[in-house]
Amino acid sequence: MTNRTFTMIKPDATAKGNTGAILKMINEAGFRIVAMKMTHLSSAKAGEFYAVHKERPFYGELVEFMSRGPITAAILEKENAVEEFRKLIGATNPAQAAEGTIRKLYAASIGENAVHGSDSDENAQIEGDFFFSKLEQF
Ligand code: CMP
Repeated sequence: MTNRTFTMIKPDATAKGNTGAILKMINEAGFRIVAMKMTHLSSAKAGEFYAVHKERPFYGELVEFMSRGPITAAILEKENAVEEFRKLIGATNPAQAAEGTIRKLYAASIGENAVHGSDSDENAQIEGDFFFSKLEQF
């Protein structure tokens, strides 16, 4: 089934100039870009986005990092988009990410891991709607 996932190219990848290379990998893997914008999250907005992790010990660090600099947010479409995109980005911890994955190539650590990918269809919808109105999703 064709469905959608949500991604962010995080502040570490933006600062290192890797946005173009990551978008090229996303395109070459067959994802269609349905919506895309570059933006800079305030710490309040980053905290809201990651509210599900509020009780985790790394929450403060995560919010500080995600509001440190600009990100690129996008909604992507493909057959089995959530699962296929998680394969393309690799494990959350880049030390465990498979060869050729985005995190293996561009992530430095579990916290500064270059990209986000939704973990379910339901969260893909919620996360996409956090950044994009219906009129901005093509
Ligand atoms: P992401 O897929 O964007 O969703 C939650 C994020 O929390 C995750 O990527 C990591 O960047 C971050 N994260 C998960 N575990 C840790 C950890 N142990 N220490 C710091 N950050 C973490």
